Amino acid sequence: MVHDPEVVYRQTTPASRALHEKAVAVMPGGTTRTTTYFDPYPLYIDRGEGCRVWDADGTERIDMLGNYTAMILGHAHPKVVEAIHKQAARGTGFAAANPIEVQLATLLCERVPSLDAVRFCNSGTEATMFAMRLARAFTGRPKIARIEGGYHGTHDYAEVSTHPVVSEAGAPEAPIARPDSIGTPEWVLEQTVVLPLNKPDAAEAIIRREGGQLAAVILEPIIGAGGVIAATVEFLERLRTVTRELGILLIFDEVISFRVAPGGAQQLYGVTPDLTTLGKIIGGGLSVAAFGGRADVMELLDPRQEPNLAQGGTYNGNPLGMAAGLATMTELTPDVYEELNRKGARVAEHLSEVFASHQVPVQVNSVGSLFALHFTNTPVVDYRTMAAANKKMTRDLFLGLVNHGVLMAPRAMGALSTPMGEQDIQQFIDAVDAVATEQRSRWQSETERS
Ligand SMILES: Cc1ncc(COP(=O)(O)O)c(C=O)c1O
Repeated sequence: MVHDPEVVYRQTTPASRALHEKAVAVMPGGTTRTTTYFDPYPLYIDRGEGCRVWDADGTERIDMLGNYTAMILGHAHPKVVEAIHKQAARGTGFAAANPIEVQLATLLCERVPSLDAVRFCNSGTEATMFAMRLARAFTGRPKIARIEGGYHGTHDYAEVSTHPVVSEAGAPEAPIARPDSIGTPEWVLEQTVVLPLNKPDAAEAIIRREGGQLAAVILEPIIGAGGVIAATVEFLERLRTVTRELGILLIFDEVISFRVAPGGAQQLYGVTPDLTTLGKIIGGGLSVAAFGGRADVMELLDPRQEPNLAQGGTYNGNPLGMAAGLATMTELTPDVYEELNRKGARVAEHLSEVFASHQVPVQVNSVGSLFALHFTNTPVVDYRTMAAANKKMTRDLFLGLVNHGVLMAPRAMGALSTPMGEQDIQQFIDAVDAVATEQRSRWQSETERS
């Protein structure tokens, strides 16, 4: 029997469907976040606790995504809830600095190797936008280099070559800047230089060619939303050496990868950038992000000197977000990271075993508590190898898992949270096994076709 997961999804999520029908009248596509939309209509989540979420029909699922990796302690963690309650009762925002932002800034500067100083903002998008602007201000140069397939949010400079159509994106060693969105200005493409991941010689040659024009090279040391693809240490070291030589700032976007170690991927890989952007886990589930780095660069933001780079923002460092972030980061001791990463390694191992037992060609990309599945025989080491994987099988897996009580990213990416125990992990693996069993005939014909 051919098993179409969409049929089951439609049958079992009537409340989400009804909400969607109402929502489309007032929000394009019925959501306010493109990344939460999927076909035929998105799931509407009513509440979460620990590593579980409940949808509008009251159906319980394991949350293997945790708001796209942000919820590292799971949902409604008692310490975080307590911190939010306490602060909410004391006021949520003032036109003034507050003591908690000093505490969270101190904690981050102590933990992250590259951070001499930090500034808060409200989203990863803002963090990369300010980091890029700061790099342009510091160097006096206009261009930003970034990695094909990397993701840095949704401002104009970020919306380039995140997911280009490969046939339009140039040679693998010399990718060309492609817009991700309609409305991306032409001048942004002209000011953006695209580098291939994990090709150190090719990347260095491009950087040297553009050298005098480049303010910064920005990259995720571990590409997150784009498929958990780690940069090799050799690649990172090469970027470090060439950028230092040419006076270009190296920016690590650790909005996602900060969860792999107390000091982020820069600590794990032993390469220190000039600037770092953070988000997701540092806000404990509220909208907090940050950018920071070398003292001589961050100094440009100091309002005591002229000229300075102004960074306004009504909610920057608001005490509610700071309290949630501080409570979360305080819970994240080195032991907690170690245990979470151990669980991540076990999940990756189990996933490989399950797909091997079904003879499904898959790459399990994982670092620490992050993982992603790519349906291909070829190791996924950059955007081009990721783009060549079978996307239909990914969709079947995602929707099949939703039907079997698991929420992951539609692109089959996931992140563990600390409340996950052995039983939760086993339940996830059993669900993957059940979907692979159901999809055997569909996936066999897909595999033969590709
Ligand atoms: C690496 C990276 N940078 C930036 C962003 C943008 O963050 P936000 O969605 O908070 O704007 C994201 C979001 O997923 C991200 O993964």
